[in-house]
Parts: sequence; C-alpha cells; structure tokens
Amino acid sequence: MERTPRAILFLLLLLLVDPGVAQNTTTGKADEFHVGVILDLGSLVGKVSRTSISLAVEDFYAVHQNYSTKLVLHFRDSMASDVKAASAAIELLDNYKLQAIIGPQKSSEAVFISKIGNITKVPTVSFTATSPSLTSDTMPYFVRATLNDSAQVNSIASLVKAYGWREVVLVYENTDYGRGILPYLISALQESDVHVPYQSVIPPSATSEIMMQELYKLMTMQTRVFIVHMSSTMTSLLFKKAKEAGMMDKGFAWITTNGVANIIDSLNPSVTEVMNGVLGVRYHVPKSKELDSFSIRWNRMYQQDNPDESPFNKLSIVGLRAYDTIWALAQAAEKVGISSAPNKQPWSIKNSTCSESMVISPNGPKLLAAIVQNKFRGISGDFDLTDKQLKVSVFQIINVVGRGWREIGFWSVKSGLSRQLNQNGLKTAGSASMLDLNPVIWPGESTEIPRGWEIPISGKKLRVGVHTSNCPEFIKTFRDPVTNVTSASGLSVDIFEEAIKRLPFALTYEYLAFDTADTATTGSYNDFIYQVYLQKYDIAVGDITVRYNRSLYVDFTVPYTESGVGMIVPVKENMIKNMWIFLKPLSTGMWFGSIIFFIYTGVVAWLLEYLNGNQHVHGPFSLKQVGITMFFSIFEES
Ligand SMILES: *[C@@H]1O[C@H](CO)[C@@H](O)[C@H](O)[C@H]1NC(C)=O
Ligand SMILES: *[C@@H]1O[C@H](CO)[C@@H](O)[C@H](O)[C@H]1NC(C)=O
Ligand SMILES: *[C@@H]1O[C@H](CO)[C@@H](O)[C@H](O)[C@H]1NC(C)=O
Ligand SMILES: *[C@@H]1O[C@H](CO)[C@@H](O)[C@H](O)[C@H]1NC(C)=O
Ligand SMILES: *[C@@H]1O[C@H](CO)[C@@H](O)[C@H](O)[C@H]1NC(C)=O
Ligand SMILES: *[C@@H]1O[C@H](CO)[C@@H](O)[C@H](O)[C@H]1NC(C)=O
Ligand SMILES: *[C@@H]1O[C@H](CO)[C@@H](O)[C@H](O)[C@H]1NC(C)=O
Repeated sequence: MERTPRAILFLLLLLLVDPGVAQNTTTGKADEFHVGVILDLGSLVGKVSRTSISLAVEDFYAVHQNYSTKLVLHFRDSMASDVKAASAAIELLDNYKLQAIIGPQKSSEAVFISKIGNITKVPTVSFTATSPSLTSDTMPYFVRATLNDSAQVNSIASLVKAYGWREVVLVYENTDYGRGILPYLISALQESDVHVPYQSVIPPSATSEIMMQELYKLMTMQTRVFIVHMSSTMTSLLFKKAKEAGMMDKGFAWITTNGVANIIDSLNPSVTEVMNGVLGVRYHVPKSKELDSFSIRWNRMYQQDNPDESPFNKLSIVGLRAYDTIWALAQAAEKVGISSAPNKQPWSIKNSTCSESMVISPNGPKLLAAIVQNKFRGISGDFDLTDKQLKVSVFQIINVVGRGWREIGFWSVKSGLSRQLNQNGLKTAGSASMLDLNPVIWPGESTEIPRGWEIPISGKKLRVGVHTSNCPEFIKTFRDPVTNVTSASGLSVDIFEEAIKRLPFALTYEYLAFDTADTATTGSYNDFIYQVYLQKYDIAVGDITVRYNRSLYVDFTVPYTESGVGMIVPVKENMIKNMWIFLKPLSTGMWFGSIIFFIYTGVVAWLLEYLNGNQHVHGPFSLKQVGITMFFSIFEES
C-alpha cells in the first residue's frame, strides 16, 4: 500500500529534475563541494562516464534533498594527453576549492594526478585506471573504484587451459595500461603450463599499415590463439585489420581482456560484427530492476548529451561504476561536510600555477576515510572500497555473436570456470573442463574448438635425413617412383614420429634419403651424420651409434635402445700363468706366521718329551731329531 505513492513521488521528482539542472551550481542553500572530473571526453568511455556522472548527481540529490552539501562538478577534457590531464588538475586545484578528483581516465594520466593528490591530500577516485602498477600503497590518496587488471589474469589462464591450448600470443598496446598487466598475465599462464612464444607490442599511434604488418607476422607463426589487451579504439582497428587479413576465420581464437569486453555493448556495431567469435572476460553485473529503469533514463540522457550519435545502447559497466562512484563520493561528502575556517583564502591565489603554492586540503584524510568506509549496494553490484579498490568479484565470459554477445559462463576465485553462477562457490569436479561452459561460436562461424596451432603457410619443413640400415628393422627407406616422396619405416622412424606427435606445436617434416653405394659400412654412417653438420639435414634418424668423434659434429639424443653388445675388457694374463698362484689365498705375513707357529709347536712338544725323559728325543742334534720335531708339530696337537 505504501509503495505506490512513493514510487509516484520518485517519478515526479525525476521528471521535475530535468537534465542540466544538476550542473546549476546556484541551486539551494547547500554548501558547494567542488569536484574535478578529468576525462577524455572525446572517447567512448569518456562520453559514457560523463553522462553517468551527471545523471548520478541528479539522481542522488533528487533522493537526498535535505543534504547540506552538494557536489559541484568541474569537467575537464584531457584530450587523451597526459600533459593536458595534469595541467587540468593543477588548474582545478588552483581555481576551486577542490575536495576530490574523479578520474583521470587513463592509467598514465593517473600516475601524475595521484601524485598531486598525494601532496595536496585530495582523494583521486578513478574508475577506469586499471594498471596494477598504480597502487594505493605508495599513493595513499589514490582510490580505484574498479578492479586492477591483474584480477582477471587467472580467469584468462583458466579459459586457455579449459580449451586445451598450449601456446598463446599476447597482443598489447605499448602504454602504461597495456604493459601493466603483462607480468601478471604471463606468470598466470606459466602456472597453467601455457607457453607464450611471442608478444606483439603495438605502438599506440599504430596506423593501419603497421597493424597489418604485425598481423601478417602473427600469421606466419604457428600459434592461433591471441590474447588482446588494448584500448577500444585500437582493438577496433586491430579486429578490422584482422578480418581483412583473414585472421577472423576458422581455426583462430581470440580473447580480449575486460578493457574492451566491459564496453562491448557500446562499441559500434560494425566493430562488433568483425569481432564475431571473440571471447571476452568482463566484470559481472547482477541483473536488477533498478538497472533496467536506470538504463532507460541513461539512454535518454546520453542522446541529449550526444545528439549526433546513433542511439545504440551504450551503457556499459564503466558507466555503472561511474554512477556508483558519484554516489559514494556524495555520501562521503555529506558525512565529512565542507571544511570551514582554516584555508578559505589561500585558495584564491590566482596567479600561481606552480604546485608549490597548492594548499593542502584540510578535509582530505577525513574524506578519504569516508569514501573508503562507505559500503553500499550500488547499481553495478556491491560497492566496497575498503582495500582502496573494489573486491574481486565474479567475471563473466562472453562470446561476441552477431551484433551482440552471448554468455558462455562465469569465473570466480572460489569455483573457477562454470556455466552457471553458483553463489555458494560449490562446484562439481573437473574445474578446468570445457564441458562446463556453454558452446562457443568461434571465428568463421565454426563450432569446432580451435586446436590453437596451425601449420604456418610460410613455415619451413624440418629436413630429416634417413638412411637404409643393414638391419631394416631399425630403418628402411623407400622412394615413391611417381611422386618422388621418400618415406621411411622401422623402429627408429616410429620413435621419431612419436616424439613429433608429442610436441605441443605443429612441426612438418620431410624425409631425405641418404644414398651411397655401400650403406653398410661405418664410413658411410660417418658421412651420413656429417650431412647434419653441413646443414643438408636438420636432423638425422637411424640406428646411429653414439661415438666420441661423431659427437664433435652433432648432438645425440639419449640412446633409445640397448645395442645388445657386451663389453670385452682385456684381463692381465700373468695372473693365470703365475706358478705361485696357490699362495694367493693367504698374505705373505700370514704364511710366515703359520710357518713360525708350526715350528714353535714342534719345538715345544719336543722339549716336553725331552724333559719327560723320552729316549727317542735324546741324543745329538741330527736330521732324525728335526724329523721328530716336525712329526710332533703335526700330530701332537690332538
Ligand atoms: C540555476 O538556478 C537559478 C535559481 O534557481 C535559475 O535562475 C537559473 O536559471 C538556473 N540555471 C540553469 C542553467 O538552470
Ligand atoms: C533528511 O531527511 C530525512 C527524512 O526525510 C532524515 O531522516 C534525515 O536525517 C535528514 N537529513 C538531514 C541532513 O537533514
Ligand atoms: C604520498 O604521501 C605520503 C605521505 O602523505 C608519503 O609518505 C609518500 O611518500 C607519498 N608518495 C609519493 C609517491 O609522493
Ligand atoms: C590487484 O588486484 C588483486 C586482486 O584484487 C590484488 O590481489 C592485488 O593486490 C592488486 N594489485 C594492486 C597493485 O593493487
Ligand atoms: C597577478 O599578476 C598580476 C600581473 O601579472 C599582478 O598585477 C597581480 O597583482 C597578481 N595578483 C596576485 C594576487 O598576486
Ligand atoms: C625425382 O628425383 C630425382 C632426383 O632426386 C629427379 O631426377 C627426378 O626428376 C625426380 N622425379 C620427379 C617425378 O620429380
Ligand atoms: C671417427 O673416427 C673413425 C675412425 O675411428 C673415422 O673413420 C671417422 O671418419 C671419424 N668420424 C668423423 C666424423 O670424424
């Protein structure tokens, strides 16, 4: 019962507050809270953001009419120049009692502006500067009302893995934005065992010709999976040229990072059409009724702001983030209020444009804390800047189809890739299975998953030298008399072909037979191997023995078979012929010891007999006595 009147009132308010009034800085008695907005107003993102920001101020104060503060926005166009953006920031800080800066749009612009913000303690809130090199650790007054680019790298890596691609080529623009993601992306890919054979750097000023040259270079390579991380203008050019070069055909796979995927709706339909088949990773925005009604009003306002543009649905996630950012800032402004006494005057020093004269904002720390602590449910989802950037949420995987896109699945930190968004984070087994995603329509209207590599058009064939062995089980070559093509068979060839199959990329090869009159002698094997050194072959396959002097010319693989040949080692012959061989069981010392004990025993026995008065042992020393002693030593022991 209570709902209807409130809804009507809200509508009435919206009708009353006509677009344009929001920028009327003289309305009401509210304190003016000056905010600088630095955007590249000529760009798509800039235009979308501008409309969102204006609409947000309008909506916010329509709902919060009795607020004592009011945001007053000062738009400045950075014209895609870092210097213009910096001078706009200085000018705004000099001329107005600026409490906060929204933007700048580009990561490279944010570097300097956040430094100024750091000195003057003016919070800089950017919802588009995503380069991970900008951190709030070194820039305490820099707040990122979005995620940094490194948040998405794991989703891209798991996507590549899910489709079973082993190699990808990175295509990025040579700007702070383009380079920022690189180390994170490469290490995420490496963790997934994906190799990056080539990185294609495109200068931001690239013309069609330069782009085309680079694309032709990419075409000669084997890899057919490309990850694109570029601004929307450059991406549009890239895909237009890729279409011309035939790289939007069957067999190719393209993935764009969220920079472009986020604003895919806003792109010109002619661009979306050439991008058919591309996969994209982007932030997930939960659907809601507020969002639907908002987009209607937004579209109307966008058309008023840009009357000469065709009325496509241009509202993108960037626009939603811009809208929420203003709500967060307006709430924080009300909480903190306008600083009163300390420095009303110093700001009016008009003549100085040098940063030494910039005044430190007394409210800065309080305002920063208020922005960061303010958690609410915005139109783009949960808005929580506790870490001075939004929390990692869920990424949506999209496939560009026709003039729009289809949802392929989701990626979240907890559950990885999945077809359905699972709020509990629970997931059935097989996290990297591609079956868990909706089918994709790949470039060239193909439904077959690209295998990720192709035999390059201009690629060289591997020249494999083969040689009929006198053991044909190992290797045997034939030449087809009609086509003149050499083929080979045997164990060595099977092993070689199996190794080729296991390579993660395509390798084409041809067999070249080594023909000599006598194929059996070792000499011809030496010559055969020498052909590799002479670069007539890239590789030689056969039952080749690993020999020291051959290894001076070529490298051998690990031996793949046992030769069956035993080793015969010459043995010292004198060992067998020696007549004293029977002495070997005991050492010399032992022999002497034994002999001495032998004599000792005999002597002792003889002595005992002698003392007992044995007749036989009495008498002079003679051979007989020695014989008796010997006799004793043998028999007396028992
Ligand atoms: C701003 O508000 C004042 C007073 O409410 C009004 O006279 C003026 O026309 C408004 N200006 C614009 C541009 O709407
Ligand atoms: C604005 O009005 C609402 C009720 O409509 C009240 O709860 C709130 O405290 C008021 N705020 C201010 C700043 O007066
Ligand atoms: C930013 O300001 C803080 C103190 O406010 C300082 O410690 C830090 O070095 C500054 N950073 C830069 C990059 O100027
Ligand atoms: C970027 O985002 C990720 C995930 O939210 C976070 O772990 C990381 O610290 C961020 N890096 C920077 C430089 O802000
Ligand atoms: C600004 O500069 C002009 C001339 O360059 C000078 O006349 C004027 O006094 C200066 N104003 C201030 C506030 O310094
Ligand atoms: C086959 O190759 C031999 C020499 O390698 C050449 O003389 C002959 O003309 C070739 N035949 C065909 C049909 O190409
Ligand atoms: C290796 O040594 C043998 C003789 O032991 C010789 O006939 C052969 O030519 C040598 N091979 C090479 C590649 O030098």
